[in-house]
Amino acid sequence: MGIRNVLRIGHPALRRRAEEVPDDWFGSQRLQELIYDLFDTKLACSGAGLAAPQIDEPWRVLVVGMDHNPRYPEAPPLPELVLINPVLKSIGKELISGWEGCLSVPGLRGEVQRWQRIQLKWQDREGAYHTEELQDFHARVVQHENDHLDGVLFPDRLTSPLAFGFTDELQAHGRIP
Ligand code: NI
Repeated sequence: MGIRNVLRIGHPALRRRAEEVPDDWFGSQRLQELIYDLFDTKLACSGAGLAAPQIDEPWRVLVVGMDHNPRYPEAPPLPELVLINPVLKSIGKELISGWEGCLSVPGLRGEVQRWQRIQLKWQDREGAYHTEELQDFHARVVQHENDHLDGVLFPDRLTSPLAFGFTDELQAHGRIP
């Protein structure tokens, strides 16, 4: 299939809770094709991450990763990861604010608070379990993508209704780099 259509805010599929990937999918061609489509689509759109519901696939699968990204010129590189059935929890209580965008909310940015540090558990495409601690930008991207699996989009989490706008306007007026 390759590059898929990315659903935009307003489409009801973005608001549903995605299902756990069942045991008998691990190692399957079906799951592998979904992962390829997520990476192909993410790359085509210069995304930092992409979750399966954004391409109208109601499963708890997401991909993250980027080298230098023109949409986030100040962000550090992010290693490529495929997260299946992810579960995350905060480490400590510290929250940090940052501006986010989303391929399903094109052209807009908003300021959102996220946990600074998280513990992340997930399964890989073969079904093996992994645990890792993430912080700062990497933790932010995973929290944003994980929200998609629960039907949550970043405008639901704005620090203020005023901390939201079109990327080019915010840049022109010095609110984001
Ligand atoms: Ni998003």
